[in-house]
Amino acid sequence: MNSQNESLISGKGLWKSFQSGDDEVSIIKGLDFSLAQGESISIMGDSGSGKSTLLNLLSGLDCLDKGTLKWKERSIENLSTSTLSSMRRSFIGFVFQSFYLVPDLTVYENLYLSAKIGYKDMNQDEIHARISEYLEKVHLKDREQHSVVTLSGGEKQRVAIARALINDPLIIFADEPTGNLDDRSSKEILELLLSLVEMEEKSLVLVTHNPNFAQHTDKQLYLKNGTFED
Ligand SMILES: Nc1ncnc2c1ncn2[C@@H]1O[C@H](COP(=O)(O)OP(=O)(O)OP(=O)(O)O)[C@@H](O)[C@H]1O
Ligand SMILES: [Mg+2]
Repeated sequence: MNSQNESLISGKGLWKSFQSGDDEVSIIKGLDFSLAQGESISIMGDSGSGKSTLLNLLSGLDCLDKGTLKWKERSIENLSTSTLSSMRRSFIGFVFQSFYLVPDLTVYENLYLSAKIGYKDMNQDEIHARISEYLEKVHLKDREQHSVVTLSGGEKQRVAIARALINDPLIIFADEPTGNLDDRSSKEILELLLSLVEMEEKSLVLVTHNPNFAQHTDKQLYLKNGTFED
């Protein structure tokens, strides 16, 4: 199998249930998922259908009830939390609807936090150069010393995109990245995300409610009743 076809993520028969009062409710029911190197996939589905739950399972942030999950052919079950965290850092970068930036810090400091953890062996100059490079890529160089709370939603999401990419992961998981933005910013953010993903040859899993946005990815999946519709 050449590297183009290698599955970065391969999940088979994935199941996940949650306790709801006295009942156990199955959210993900025997679902298969595969993501290849450089591939982009969008996931749509009603609110509550389990899209975020599925991303949590695929990224090892939540554990499976049943099924098998591999990252680059390696099973991630039974890994220690610290091993899994450190593997995840170089494997998946996250962009969320609510940005999840550290509010008391500047744009620069938010990126520094991630880069410092991701690049333990880099010296300060190298980290600084990397942050500058990514601030340029998301067109925020002039805002680097601004506190993130003073930024618009679109600008916050651009910081989050830079943060997701700065540790050079193979994959970006974007969970409704435009969910808190107006139409114009949504379009700008989607275009920026797609262009950076393509330029940096990342794989992408994009959760979106917008079918027009989903059309821009290689594959579109629709989650319903715990599995993908045909
Ligand atoms: N930790 C949890 N404990 C109990 N129930 C949970 C938990 N996480 C998710 N759920 C339930 O699982 C279902 C799916 O939630 P999830 O957040 O994955 O949906 P979603 O498709 O991402 O929805 P949205 O489009 O609104 O973001 C919901 O009914 C939710 O309440
Ligand atoms: Mg969700």
